[in-house]
Amino acid sequence: MLYFGTPVALLSTVNPDGSSNLSPNSSVWALGDRLVIGLGLGGQGLENLRRDGDCVVNLPSAAQWPQVESLARATGRSEVPPRKRAMGYRHVADKFALAGLQRLPGELVRAARVLDCPLQIEARLQGSLDEAGATARGFAIAELQVLRVHAHEDITHAGSHHIDTLRWQPLLYVFRHYCGTGTPRGANFRAETALPPQQATGAAA
Ligand SMILES: Cc1cc2nc3c(=O)[nH]c(=O)nc-3n(C[C@H](O)[C@H](O)[C@H](O)COP(=O)(O)O)c2cc1C
Repeated sequence: MLYFGTPVALLSTVNPDGSSNLSPNSSVWALGDRLVIGLGLGGQGLENLRRDGDCVVNLPSAAQWPQVESLARATGRSEVPPRKRAMGYRHVADKFALAGLQRLPGELVRAARVLDCPLQIEARLQGSLDEAGATARGFAIAELQVLRVHAHEDITHAGSHHIDTLRWQPLLYVFRHYCGTGTPRGANFRAETALPPQQATGAAA
């Protein structure tokens, strides 16, 4: 598997009874106001997204990896697919309780946010899923429209909506190991906030 190092997200989606499911995910990326996410067939997260496009992409910090891993062999599917059952997966109706995570209502979507995650992105399925392609591949690729972003105050620069990269420590999935990112190495020429001078190491002279 090409898990070369992508952020871990907890995807919150709406179950048929209106409660929220949580699916660990490591295949999501953002550009502008769009997110693209990859979801395996047979998961409750994909089924929910097909039926009700509302979701929240919650981003845990590196320190929260045990809570993510506590969800790793759980599925919201009441009938666990045989292949997953053989791998030790079991049905869990309330994954927030399983991981000891607190829920907050979405402001613009029906899916619940994870209060404990420093970044929470409310989003909605944009357009329809490529069902034929999904069946052939075994997973679907969905495009989501970002509706609202919530950030904990302790990862933002005081009084602004900019993220302080010295304090935001995303959880990365690197070849099935949970990793953090360490301190920032430098800044892009378009960065809207500066790093302390001692942070900018290794720059070309
Ligand atoms: C760290 C981590 C990353 C994962 N990444 C993905 C992913 O990108 N896409 C996916 O479909 N499943 C991914 N999974 C597996 C799902 O979380 C798993 O199939 C889970 O049972 C889905 O829950 P659900 O059936 O309630 O949606 C990942 C699991 C873990 C622990």
